Amino acid sequence: MENIKKIPVILDGDPGHDDAIAWVVAKASPLLDIRAVTTVCGNQTLEKTTYNARRICTLIGLEAPIAKGRPRPLFTDPMVAPNVHGQTGLDGPVLPEPKMEVQDISAVELMARTLQESDQKITLIPTGPLTTIASLLLTHPELKDKIAHIYMMGGGIAYGNWTPAAEFNILVDPEAADIVFNSGLPITMAGLDVTEKALVFPEDFARVKAVGNKVAEVVSEWLEFFYIFHKNKGYTGAPVHDAVAVAALIKPEIMQFRDLHVDIETHGEFCKGTTVGDVFGVTGKEPNARVILGIDREAFVELIIDSVKAYGEDA
Ligand code: BDR
Ligand code: CA
Repeated sequence: MENIKKIPVILDGDPGHDDAIAWVVAKASPLLDIRAVTTVCGNQTLEKTTYNARRICTLIGLEAPIAKGRPRPLFTDPMVAPNVHGQTGLDGPVLPEPKMEVQDISAVELMARTLQESDQKITLIPTGPLTTIASLLLTHPELKDKIAHIYMMGGGIAYGNWTPAAEFNILVDPEAADIVFNSGLPITMAGLDVTEKALVFPEDFARVKAVGNKVAEVVSEWLEFFYIFHKNKGYTGAPVHDAVAVAALIKPEIMQFRDLHVDIETHGEFCKGTTVGDVFGVTGKEPNARVILGIDREAFVELIIDSVKAYGEDA
C-alpha cells in the first residue's frame, strides 16, 4: 500500500449525515490524499454546515485546511433540509467541539490555491449543491486544466426527491449545476438512480456500531438519525447518497456506469433542477457525464464498515 500513488482530492459538502459518512470513508481510504475541505450551504445554512465540517474533521482527525463557501446559491435563495438532517444539519450524536479552524480565505480561493500549488491534477468530490465548483470555474477558468475529474452526488435521471423531477442538491443551485455540466470536465454522477439503491439497513447499523471505536459509535448514530426521515417515507434503510460519490472513486468495481448527455433544467414550473439524461440519444449530443446506475449494496455496506474499522481502537 505504501507505494501506491494517492489520488489528490478536495471534499466540498454541506454536512449533513451522508456527507459526514462520505468524509469518514474518504479519510479512511489509503487511496486518497485529501488536500482541502470546503463547505457550501445546502442541508443547512453555511454557518451550520461549516461548524459541522469542523466537528467532523476533528472527530476523524482530518487535518486538511477548511474554508467556507458562499452563503447563498449563485442566483437563488438558500433552501435547507431540517426535516432530513435536523436543526443543526447534523443532529444525533454529540460531536467533539472543533479543533480545526476555518481558513481566512474563501472556499473558492482555497480550492484555487490548492490547485495552483499542486503538481498533479486534483479530483473534486462535491456532495452538496455545486455552488463552490461553479464559482471556481467562473472566477478561475485557467485552473480547469488542473481538475482531473468531478465525482459528484446530485440529480437523478429517473426521478427527483425534492420535487417529483428534481433532486435536492441540483434544485438548490440549478445554475451552478448547469455551469458544471457544461464545463467539459469529466463528471461521474452519483444521482438518485444509484444512491436510492445504496441502502444501509438497520441490521447494518448494528454491525457498524459493533466495530467498537468512537467513529463507529458516531457513524451508527448518524445512520439511525438519517433513517428516521426515510423510515417515515417507507424506506427499508438509509440511502447514504453522498458516500456513493466517494465509493465510485475508490471502488468503481462495485458499480454500473453509463455515459450519457445530461442537461440541467434551470427554469420551469414543474421541472426546475432536473438532470435531463438523454437515455435514447435523441439529442445527438456527446455524453458529458458518466452516470452511475447500479451498485452492489452489500459491498457498499462492507466499505463503510471497513472504513470505520480503519480508525482503529483509539478513534
Ligand atoms: C442529497 O441531499 C442532501 O440532503 C444529502 O446530503 C445529499 O447530498 C440527497 O438528495
Ligand atoms: Ca450532501
